[in-house]
Amino acid sequence: MSQQTDFKHHHVMITGGSSGIGKATACRLASLGANITLIARTPSQLERAAQEIKATQTEVQRVLALAADVAEREALTQAIQTATDQLGPPDILITAAGMARPGYFQDVSLDIFEETMAVNYFGTLYAIKAVLPLMAERQQGHIVLISSGAGLVGIFGYTPYSPSKFALRGLAESLRGELKGTGIGLSIVYPPDTDTPQLVAENKTKPPETKNITASAEMWQPEDVAQEIVKGIKNQQFVVAPGLEMGLLAKLHSVLAPGLNWYFDRIVTQTRSQSS
Ligand SMILES: NC(=O)c1ccc[n+]([C@@H]2O[C@H](COP(=O)([O-])OP(=O)(O)OC[C@H]3O[C@@H](n4cnc5c(N)ncnc54)[C@H](OP(=O)(O)O)[C@@H]3O)[C@@H](O)[C@H]2O)c1
Repeated sequence: MSQQTDFKHHHVMITGGSSGIGKATACRLASLGANITLIARTPSQLERAAQEIKATQTEVQRVLALAADVAEREALTQAIQTATDQLGPPDILITAAGMARPGYFQDVSLDIFEETMAVNYFGTLYAIKAVLPLMAERQQGHIVLISSGAGLVGIFGYTPYSPSKFALRGLAESLRGELKGTGIGLSIVYPPDTDTPQLVAENKTKPPETKNITASAEMWQPEDVAQEIVKGIKNQQFVVAPGLEMGLLAKLHSVLAPGLNWYFDRIVTQTRSQSS
């Protein structure tokens, strides 16, 4: 799909497409003519999202909602097969399914560490593994991984989440070269803080230090992040980093890391001295 500017009749598969950033991206691509497959776990939420998306489509466009847990390799592979059988091979894959349970390292159970890696990293890997041969056969397609600012710098309170999002960056950066010249594009997205149910859930377990570190970050709406994702696909951008903060972080994270760590440590010290 190199240089694609039109999504008419394209089949877009979106894991985590029933809510937040995934759903907003689905709506935007549907309004540009795409057929959509949503993959997430909760059938009622999938159904609501499918109806919302259908409302943005023409009569001939299709939307398919499939319930599967991305951490379950067989279930996810089966859902991708079903979607391919019904709507044809995917032109675009967007892996937005994700979870975040912040907390102090010593308070977070190993089960959460394992689950976060299973959903955020392996859930993405399984989807790409299932879809890539279908794209390679047609020598066209585009894959979009959703990472996070926490995949560029480690953030206090995000010890289960940050490594899973770093892992996605490692996967994207190493796969990028392999896909060059194949006709298959690849993007990795570093969304800023975005007003979604995941962020609301995260805020419930965020330590106060983490809340203060992220307090100054600009809050985005999922529709605005979706617009940047779609622009990134159209422009074949490898890194999609919406906004100034993410743009700087994506370009300069290694250079900025010592300064950011100093700044974060200062916030942690202030937070602790206020609460003691
Ligand atoms: N919101 C932010 O501030 C922010 C910032 C940076 C990065 N991100 C990343 O952006 C992506 C989307 O997050 P969001 O904020 O839009 O969250 P959201 O509104 O809570 O949506 C998450 C979606 O993923 C699905 N999902 C979760 N676990 C799943 C699983 N095991 N199997 C299949 N589907 C699953 C959810 O549906 P079910 O629960 O029904 O399965 C839902 O459709 C995530 O990867 C997140 O880490 C978000």
